[in-house]
Amino acid sequence: MCGIFGYLNYLVERDRRFILDTLSNGLARLEYRGYDSAGLAVDGDKEDEIYVYKQVGKVAALKKLINEQSCDFTNTFISHCGMAHTRWATHGQPSQLNSHPHRSDAKNEFVIVHNGIITNYKEIKTLLEKKGFTFESDTDTECVAKLTKYIWDSQKSTTNLTFTDLVKLVAKELEGSFAFIFKSIHFPNEVVATRRGSPLLVGVKTAKKLKVDFVDVEFGTSEVPEALPIQETNHFLAADGGHPQLRRSQSRAFLSEDGLPQPIEYFLASDAAAIVEHTKRVLYLEDDDVAHITDGELHIHRLRRGAEGGATSRSIQTLEIELAEIMKGSFDHFMQKEIYEQPESVVNTMRGRVNFENHKVTLGGLRGFLPIMRRARRIVFIACGTSYHSCLATRGTFEELTEIPTQMDLASDFLDRRTPIFRDDVCIFVSQSGETADTILAMRYCLERGALTVGVTNTVGSSISRETHCGVHINAGPEIGVASTKAYTSQYIALVMMAIQLSDDRTSMTSRREEIIEGLFRLPGQIKEVLASDSSLQQLAAQTLSREKSLLIMGRGYQNATCLEGALKIKEISYMHSEGILAGELKHGPLALVDENMPVILIMTKDSLYPKVQSALQQVTARKGQPIIICNSGDTNLINDYKTIQVPQTADCLQGLVNIIPLQLLSYHLAVLQGVDVDFPRNLAKSVTVE
Ligand code: F6R
Repeated sequence: MCGIFGYLNYLVERDRRFILDTLSNGLARLEYRGYDSAGLAVDGDKEDEIYVYKQVGKVAALKKLINEQSCDFTNTFISHCGMAHTRWATHGQPSQLNSHPHRSDAKNEFVIVHNGIITNYKEIKTLLEKKGFTFESDTDTECVAKLTKYIWDSQKSTTNLTFTDLVKLVAKELEGSFAFIFKSIHFPNEVVATRRGSPLLVGVKTAKKLKVDFVDVEFGTSEVPEALPIQETNHFLAADGGHPQLRRSQSRAFLSEDGLPQPIEYFLASDAAAIVEHTKRVLYLEDDDVAHITDGELHIHRLRRGAEGGATSRSIQTLEIELAEIMKGSFDHFMQKEIYEQPESVVNTMRGRVNFENHKVTLGGLRGFLPIMRRARRIVFIACGTSYHSCLATRGTFEELTEIPTQMDLASDFLDRRTPIFRDDVCIFVSQSGETADTILAMRYCLERGALTVGVTNTVGSSISRETHCGVHINAGPEIGVASTKAYTSQYIALVMMAIQLSDDRTSMTSRREEIIEGLFRLPGQIKEVLASDSSLQQLAAQTLSREKSLLIMGRGYQNATCLEGALKIKEISYMHSEGILAGELKHGPLALVDENMPVILIMTKDSLYPKVQSALQQVTARKGQPIIICNSGDTNLINDYKTIQVPQTADCLQGLVNIIPLQLLSYHLAVLQGVDVDFPRNLAKSVTVE
């Protein structure tokens, strides 16, 4: 987890105040990735000084700390490299010492920020301790800072070690996932950044026209193998077969048209959200890329040879998101804004893909792959959390429309079981961020076994969208609130669209497809209708539910996913225990929880299972339970006798898209009533880039 941000100016005069503000504002945009503590590193007043500031808590606390410092904020820098970090604790509790940047030593010879987990850090630490290093934090990251110094000290006198070479040597020793930025007093005005498994992109801002207009920067074509003598064989290097062969791949630097040095600024970040206010031109680093920025030039090197490391070119992309899209607007919280955006975000998911006149769906991202998908022996859905629920919500639709057997898996469990996967399987990976570590590992596992992999993500350029064979972007717009809302409804629609398109060759399903597409057409208006009842949901939260300890949400069929997703929303942001219960399982255990004191929400909208849910209602009321019922507007069977939340009726397989809205709103109001920081619930982060 965690968010990292770097800012470099070259031939652009900036004072220290500007640099500190740029770094901390960048961090604030990444807070959704973790907010246990924050820190940053900038140049000091003397040449060989790096100032490091760290604070427990959110970026605001770090800003306060910096403002209290006595450093000279007016000191100007023509060229400067700064870096910053917001943390979600994995190794070591949130504390100042465990915060990043981490340093190699008291002189800050090397300082680094890191997103990810180094799994072999204990071995590294043991080795370094034997070499006399002492550690001040409990983190895996500090080992990397100290390993950098150790390798530097043992190599510098015998080799002409560049900063890039050094980082390559360090990275070779690391197992696990990482995105790093390295800064050093030995390499002033240079940074090196590298990634494996954690996202990292570079934003470029310059007024001058560029000679290499950021198009497909070739690299790796002129690799010069170069042996680097190692002073001492330690167990890391021995594991690699002795002396490592450093390969220096050459990238094309960015130069101005006239070949003269040009003013330029670079931004490094875990997510485009932190870059878009400065520039829309970004380059996504691939796993094992090593980016070196010096003298205004960006060079990309590889940790491994091109063939092992994936694509052999990089291109600058132009981001299409606007800063306004990632701002809160008139809403109190991002989550609230995102709930209210759904009438629009669901349209964006369908835009240009659903033809409501001829009842057709066309998903460009699946073009060329549909015949393989239709011949699949099995469709395997793999995701985590809310994204998994969107798969569960649409499983029945896939089964009905395609008649292909489907399997559902939580990514972590899928990996734990080492699930058998075959070449004729189609594996669908659903992930809002496209960066969830478990889902990425499951995707790579399926790629290795030759299955067709399909990504469904909300993040263009994310690892899942890049590495899968084909897929669908859900186009919900940036989702900042940690609790996923609009991404859920858009994932749901994307999967329904996929099932419709897959069944396009089945005439027996024509009228069913038409019914669903008609339902999709009415959906934005129906979501608006539910949003209009927000004040009564707020009242319900305040008067009936906010003092409760627990809440059961029951339903069956298509609504099973709605129950699980509603319960997840409630527990993650209001911290109230909540459980989604398949109503068919009630009598097999959960009924024991029901009495006159246990709050219950029962989902009883009209579909073929309505009579069966009616018997669940009887089972609950027979135990003196007093359920609140989510039912269709005007259901006289229920509205006269029970407390109800009424929602418009739609096609059975789309009803979950309407029914989840009141649960999202309830969870939001419960959280606000509890005084929870809605967009930043404790212990969670938006993008879970660690296993
Ligand atoms: C809950 C929530 C999480 C995510 C899960 C997967 O509100 O957001 O459960 O759904 O961490 O994340 P993605 O979809 O980014 O793979």
